[in-house]
Amino acid sequence: MRRMGWFLGSLGLLLTASIGQQTLEETLRARARAAADALFTQLLGRLTQEYQQGGAVRGVQVCAEVAQSLTRQVGREQGVAIRRVSLKNRNPRNAPDSWERQVLLRWQRDSRAGRPIGEVAQWRTEKGQRVYRYMRPITLAMPLCLECHGDPKTIQPEVRRLIRQNYPDDKATGYKQGELRGAFSVTIIPKEAQQ
Ligand code: HEC
Repeated sequence: MRRMGWFLGSLGLLLTASIGQQTLEETLRARARAAADALFTQLLGRLTQEYQQGGAVRGVQVCAEVAQSLTRQVGREQGVAIRRVSLKNRNPRNAPDSWERQVLLRWQRDSRAGRPIGEVAQWRTEKGQRVYRYMRPITLAMPLCLECHGDPKTIQPEVRRLIRQNYPDDKATGYKQGELRGAFSVTIIPKEAQQ
């Protein structure tokens, strides 16, 4: 009986550990989702506002000024590291790392083959530290997006000029509506998450 009690006790511990693990995972995923939602809302809200006031010319100017700082601000508010990445990035800071690149390439293959794509989350060990990583695809869902990411021939000359001026290495044109553009990428260090 004693042995049985010990056994059940250990089983209980194991179960609690795995439930704890699952809860942590769920908490982290919820935080990553919330951060991606917040960044999406902030950026799209600001873009739409500027666009209404001064079209794509104003949009591209403001985007070049504030996209990075808005992104950092959302990260601070949500307590995560967040950024946007793309295989054909406009801003050199939005170049993917090796894990992000792998995920983007898989999504690209899948979406070209007509297969559905969606969020990805994974525990990884980076620089000796266990981190939770999350990515969600960004597609060019709206015609508006093409005014700065579509066929260069259809982009207003002044917008093209501003893009060249701010991003001499721009790779982010030539897209069609509905195509995969990139991703929101969130990294959380779990110690922070448990606070
Ligand atoms: C008015 C011009 C403009 C419009 C419209 C626009 N973008 Fe962008 N986009 C930019 C600029 C400028 C950047 C670079 C921002 C930076 O410095 O991080 C950018 C960067 C991005 C990035 C980050 C990766 C990269 O290439 O650096 C994604 C993803 C993106 N845009 C998606 C979209 C989507 C989706 C839409 C439509 C909802 C859209 N954009 C509409 C100008 C625009």
